[in-house]
Amino acid sequence: MPTLQTTVDGVKFPNPYVIGSGPPGTNRKVIGKAFDEGWGGVIAKTVSLDASKVINVAPRYGKLTGVNKKEVFGWENIELIATTSFDDWLDDFKAVKDAYPDRPLIASIMEEYNRDAWVEIVQRCEAAGVDAFELNFSCPHGLPERKMGAAMGEDPEILEEVTGWGMQAANIPVWAKMTPNVRRIEEPPRAALRAGAHGVSAINTIRSVIGVDLETLRPMPTVEGYTTPGGYSSVAVRPIALRMVMEIATLIRDEFDGQRTISGIGGVETGGDAAQFILLGADTVQVCTGVMKLGYKMVKPMIDELIAFMEQHGFETLDDFKGHALPYFTTHAELVRMQAESQAKKRAAVAAKQAEKEAAKAEGITRDEKWDGDDFVKQTEDLVSD
Ligand SMILES: Cc1cc2nc3c(=O)[nH]c(=O)nc-3n(C[C@H](O)[C@H](O)[C@H](O)COP(=O)(O)O)c2cc1C
Repeated sequence: MPTLQTTVDGVKFPNPYVIGSGPPGTNRKVIGKAFDEGWGGVIAKTVSLDASKVINVAPRYGKLTGVNKKEVFGWENIELIATTSFDDWLDDFKAVKDAYPDRPLIASIMEEYNRDAWVEIVQRCEAAGVDAFELNFSCPHGLPERKMGAAMGEDPEILEEVTGWGMQAANIPVWAKMTPNVRRIEEPPRAALRAGAHGVSAINTIRSVIGVDLETLRPMPTVEGYTTPGGYSSVAVRPIALRMVMEIATLIRDEFDGQRTISGIGGVETGGDAAQFILLGADTVQVCTGVMKLGYKMVKPMIDELIAFMEQHGFETLDDFKGHALPYFTTHAELVRMQAESQAKKRAAVAAKQAEKEAAKAEGITRDEKWDGDDFVKQTEDLVSD
């Protein structure tokens, strides 16, 4: 029987399914629910030292559905980080670790460009017992105005410096969460890994406008008649996330001896989705919007599906197939060259077979062992004089 257990940066996960930072990990009650349903780990909603500066609006979500309006492909949010006070969060971290000591609880943290603030948030979360950190360099809306989130994630120099502050203060593993809203996805992860981060989480949401209401003619989600561009998630972003995870995995393979880890995120809803992220180099897989659409119980079929996939291919552990698909990317020019070479080989084989047949025909059947059941009628015809 295959096992889904995995140890990533020294942290033991019963399975690779981790709740991604957002509403599904937004207080001790829902985090407990996630563990009760079998999730392998939880990344709590992003916390900052002063939650009083964080003010959400409603509505703050928008859905992209198919023509039947039932299936949800894409999801936009203009939600900010946690509104709960930092002290309450520390109590929640302690309570969760007391109740679930062997389940990984990861604190997602975000602060302004201020060394003391980053050191303080790291030290206080660590003292509350969390198992690892995810540095949120990726929230695309609201916080960049305070030079937080994606504002840092889009600037590799600042990102490297801030990751360095986190690394100096932390005694537990640190992952840096990446924004996809950059021209080249390799640059921010390279900076974070150079600063010593153990791993990279990718991706956060993609900057988006979910649509315009055709009755009111206002962009959505509409708040007092207006909106602001938000972050796009759910199944529609998965191909983009897979491409980015592939590129980060290639960077880790080529520049960091394959010695750093990846938490793949974006549109995961099935075991097959997760398997694809792992085949491209992910160690764990996070789910956020999927839980908002389908509920915490979705993890059970996801576990069964991943085990069935592993049984089908004879894999015993996640390491047996991690990164398996990575070597099969190349340039378009190389695809053209390989295809031309293979077509030339096929043409040569057909020509050789044809030449053989013609030679046999010219020679005629002179011995009985040359009769062939498949070509029998043709061979007979060939012996008929013109
Ligand atoms: C409503 C909502 C709130 C989110 N809040 C956070 C957050 O506080 N911190 C963070 O790092 N990511 C946040 N995210 C991003 C998710 O963790 C995840 O990176 C992204 O949604 C893509 O994954 P998904 O398709 O599984 O949702 C949020 C996403 C949604 C939909």
